[in-house]
Amino acid sequence: MASSKFRFLINPAIATAMAAIFVIDLHTPLGLAVPFLYLLLALLAIGVGAQTRVLVIIAVVGPILAGIKLQIHPSDGVVWVGQTNRLIFSMLIWIAVGLECVRRRLEAGRRENSRLLEKQVAERTEALRTANQKLEVEIAERKEAEATIGRYASRLEALSNQLVTVQDSERKALATELHDRIGQNLSALNMSLNLNLALLSGPLSPAALSAAQVRIRDALTLVEQTTEKVRSVMEELHPALLEQYGLTTALRWHGEEFAGRTGIAFRYSAGENLPRWPGKVETTLFRIAQEALVNVAKHAEATAVTVALTQGAEGIALTISDNGVGLAPEPQRPPAAGSGWGLAIMAERARAVGGALQIGPGHGQGTAVVVTIPNRHLETA
Ligand SMILES: Nc1ncnc2c1ncn2[C@@H]1O[C@H](COP(=O)(O)OP(=O)(O)OP(=O)(O)O)[C@@H](O)[C@H]1O
Ligand SMILES: [Mg+2]
Repeated sequence: MASSKFRFLINPAIATAMAAIFVIDLHTPLGLAVPFLYLLLALLAIGVGAQTRVLVIIAVVGPILAGIKLQIHPSDGVVWVGQTNRLIFSMLIWIAVGLECVRRRLEAGRRENSRLLEKQVAERTEALRTANQKLEVEIAERKEAEATIGRYASRLEALSNQLVTVQDSERKALATELHDRIGQNLSALNMSLNLNLALLSGPLSPAALSAAQVRIRDALTLVEQTTEKVRSVMEELHPALLEQYGLTTALRWHGEEFAGRTGIAFRYSAGENLPRWPGKVETTLFRIAQEALVNVAKHAEATAVTVALTQGAEGIALTISDNGVGLAPEPQRPPAAGSGWGLAIMAERARAVGGALQIGPGHGQGTAVVVTIPNRHLETA
């Protein structure tokens, strides 16, 4: 095969060689096997990889040129020797060129087949690579989903454990409330009534009568106080205000109670003409505000707290912000056993009605807890 650098020389060289052979043939006596040189040329052309059409030209033109010599010098020697030479070498040239053409066609077919095969292999490899990538993505997504489910499951387990603890502590708190606020009053009432009974059992002197009247008045005051205390315990357990007058009134009432109890100034701001929302939503927001206020009293060292309730195109937003010390950085507030659940429970309550809870720095200082519930969840809550 000629190097591609000199390929352009092949055709002119072959043409020159043919002309040269023809001239040699003309000047040599008939009988010398000059047509053999055309065969040599054809084999050389095959060897250097000449174009197929050039081979065909050699196969056609060579025998014709050899024939011309026979026409020009018919009497130069024995014609049949020249004719025989011409015939033999023409046939050999045709066989050589014919075989080369067949070989080239087969080679082209083989190359085409292997090109197609390579293309198919490349396509299949690409398809496999894409499928593999998809599979990897699916596996990663599946793993992520499993991890998320795992996280939710353990969070749920922890929350339900905490709920049991909260229920327990609520029961204990209720028992303490009943004991401290109501039990003591009832004991005092009991004593007062017994004393009255003792006073009224003896002779009813005017002094005994007025003492009995004083004690009865005391007893009545105790009954009033007890009723008031029972009402306030009941309010805390289930604020009737919330049911009757709605969230705005209940929040204001609770905030004022909170201010009275803790000495932290309470400010309340509510959007105008707020509608009533489903009971579940109002209770959730009320409970979150309650818990956030407890946190303010417990952790914030604040002097003032603001509760703001609005409803816009996005939905409801309830903000409880204080002017206290602000949140400690995350690592400094590890949850102690049995505490540190307030925020998690608040967030869970918000999530249960389709909302979300955020806690972060307030404007300027302190902490702000923000609960948002999109309007679209109000129907379904
Ligand atoms: N208003 C606030 N100001 C400053 N820090 C706060 C405030 N609210 C919460 N924190 C911080 O966030 C932590 C988590 O609050 P969270 O209510 O979850 O737990 P807790 O109040 O410590 O315990 P629990 O509510 O279970 O009785 C608190 O320990 C406190 O450090
Ligand atoms: Mg708390």
